[in-house]
Amino acid sequence: AIYPVVLSGGNGTRLWPRSRKAMPKPFLPLVGEHTLFEATLDRCADDDRFANAVIVTGVAHLSHVQAQAAAFAGTQVIVEPEGKNTAPAIALAAARLPTDSIMLVCPSDHHIADPAAFTQAACAAATLAQEGWLVALGITPTHPETGYGYILRGDPIPGGFAVKRFVEKPDLATAEAFLADGNYSWNGGIFAFQAGAFLDALDRYRPAMAALVRQSVAAGRSEGALFFPDADSFAEIAEESVDYAVMEETDRAAVVPAVMGWSDIGNWHALRDARIGGAAGLGPDDGANAVIGNVELVDCRRVLAETDGPRISIIGMEDVAVVVDGDDVLVTSMTGAQKVGKLAGATNQ
Ligand code: GDD
Ligand code: MG
Repeated sequence: AIYPVVLSGGNGTRLWPRSRKAMPKPFLPLVGEHTLFEATLDRCADDDRFANAVIVTGVAHLSHVQAQAAAFAGTQVIVEPEGKNTAPAIALAAARLPTDSIMLVCPSDHHIADPAAFTQAACAAATLAQEGWLVALGITPTHPETGYGYILRGDPIPGGFAVKRFVEKPDLATAEAFLADGNYSWNGGIFAFQAGAFLDALDRYRPAMAALVRQSVAAGRSEGALFFPDADSFAEIAEESVDYAVMEETDRAAVVPAVMGWSDIGNWHALRDARIGGAAGLGPDDGANAVIGNVELVDCRRVLAETDGPRISIIGMEDVAVVVDGDDVLVTSMTGAQKVGKLAGATNQ
């Protein structure tokens, strides 16, 4: 069986004013009726293929995690004393699981339009992980995004490709060159590792981190389905993402290409696309609008409008997002959507 390891750490400030510190992105029903977190667990709920999920989260999100995971029996939760980014978070789960188990690392804040394609890719990745490969799911890039990791495909192996090169968050010129090259995938942030192989790689490339994680687990305590790693040793860890700490370093990386309507819903523009099933989702983008709540649109194209109360009326606009949440009103062009996280409202919440 494959152990889903669900990561929940970030805040999603670019989806302000809907996403807030107290109720961040993973726990909101952004696409459809389920929250992104629930949908993540749901994708891994088939117990012919998947074991019970292990969730790694911080104290700040614990109540949301417990409420939304309640419907999924047997879920374990590792409660981080503080956020140290994804490498230590994944290592905690690896150190808690049997050495030979296969972990499927899943961010809890992504949307996947085609869950069957996800399952297929996850199983192919798990098969490679069984042989000791450190596997990432690869997404076909559509634009020179600088917020993602890029994976250069090497020789074909069963179910995927060996990785020639992994480059986390390149600058724009480099991203443009990767896109033009045609042999790069985006890193989808979804990984399959054998727990022991992951820890071996961490021992090799980040020995101090590996030692502190082991120490933190050894001195941790269980409380029902919750596990609390020791805070003192965890505090000494230097924070780093798995992409830099392991994936850029290793020569045992593999990529499994996955066409599954993946989106990390990075901003309101991406959310509009996911809601209409266009660009980042599945199916053609016919210029449809995405509306939620009391909204009236006249002669609008590619508009996202949503409100939790006051009526929104818009005439003759294209490529804008208008979001009303309580006392906050956000109006942004789709090209400006990436900057929402910098607004005073989003930073102060
Ligand atoms: N438990 C826990 N603890 N989870 C964390 C922590 C932490 O300290 N830090 C981040 N996470 C969770 C986030 O909530 C998210 O679900 C996932 O781990 C990835 O972290 P992000 O902070 O969102 O990473 P990113 O988006 O900048 O980059 C990663 O994802 C991209 C695809 O969305 C990288 O893997 C990129 O290479 C990749 O392209
Ligand atoms: Mg992310």
